[in-house]
Amino acid sequence: MKGFTIKTEIEEYDTFEQYAAQADLGPQDLVLCGEHTYDKYVAPLSLSVQTLFREKYGKGEPTDGMVDAILDALRKKEFNRIIAIGGGTVVDIAKVVAVAGKEDKVDDLYDNVDKLKKVHPLVIIPTTCGTGSEVTNISVINRVSKGVKMGLASNAMLADKAVMITNMLDSLPYKIFSTSSIDAMVHSVESFLSPNGCSISRIFSTEALKTIIQCWKKSVEAGGGDAWKTCAADFLKASNWAGLGFGYAGCAAVHACAYPLGSVYHIPHGQSNQLMFKDVMEKYKQIQPTGRINDLEDIIAECLGVTQSEALTALYELMDKVLKKEPLRNFGVKESDLPVFAGDVIKTQQRLLKNNYIQLSEEQVLEIYKAAY
Ligand SMILES: [Fe+2]
Repeated sequence: MKGFTIKTEIEEYDTFEQYAAQADLGPQDLVLCGEHTYDKYVAPLSLSVQTLFREKYGKGEPTDGMVDAILDALRKKEFNRIIAIGGGTVVDIAKVVAVAGKEDKVDDLYDNVDKLKKVHPLVIIPTTCGTGSEVTNISVINRVSKGVKMGLASNAMLADKAVMITNMLDSLPYKIFSTSSIDAMVHSVESFLSPNGCSISRIFSTEALKTIIQCWKKSVEAGGGDAWKTCAADFLKASNWAGLGFGYAGCAAVHACAYPLGSVYHIPHGQSNQLMFKDVMEKYKQIQPTGRINDLEDIIAECLGVTQSEALTALYELMDKVLKKEPLRNFGVKESDLPVFAGDVIKTQQRLLKNNYIQLSEEQVLEIYKAAY
């Protein structure tokens, strides 16, 4: 059995300025971020760092083409530390850059995953409250050339430092807040239920879940909209704890079923998780109604003041108030896609499916997609 370790040093600050003051950022550092983030947080401090702006290489979640173009652009630069400031895309790109040798392309990294070594020290500063990616060893890239969205996992990609800074969430739009906090909630639930979790990982999963539910409830009761911002520090911490939970115990069928929705229909990661969450949980309940899922229901029930049997439904209802769930067909998904997706999930997502609360057959995965359709 693998032991629970936290290899990434985690620091917490209220503002980016406080972090910059002690991190001694300078010309040997490469800041990888979006231009808007640079202008708002980094430029005013005149730090003379090197920069790479992600939007110069493409929009949306990272693809192999986008990352290869970034690796090409960096071949000419000399830098030491990578300071990644951003959401899932920036962080996923930075992890790959941190382990890429001078000549490597994305395919070389996937082909040699067991031999990956850290080339640059990596600092990750999240600007959303969802991925938890600052403390996990996974980078997810849409390999357009292979037609599959797949995680690349290696301990060499773990950040040396994760820096949690509350004011990075200041300008987060509501839609990204909602999808990223849903992602973090799903991380906490999937890692809590995972048979590959341990007592320590479940402490992180449990605290993350409780915090997200309580902060959602508070934000919804305060009228929604920007009300979540009063809980920004808590959402940020919770996404980090959920990352520590799933970094050990793994994510499972919700993420596995969500990936084709992201790679084929470009539905944002957190939202595609939301579209699958309820129907995966309902399938689990149908196949194995007693077990760890009841412990999960107890945690939710306590947070929402309902009974164990009402807990999951109450959570779906609360999540609906954060972001209304819609059927897959509303996103252009075709009924004929569903068996293809189910087949692909079984074929390409075993890394995740091994963490399921209960194992699912291809037929059961198809039933989940049909229910969500
Ligand atoms: Fe996720």
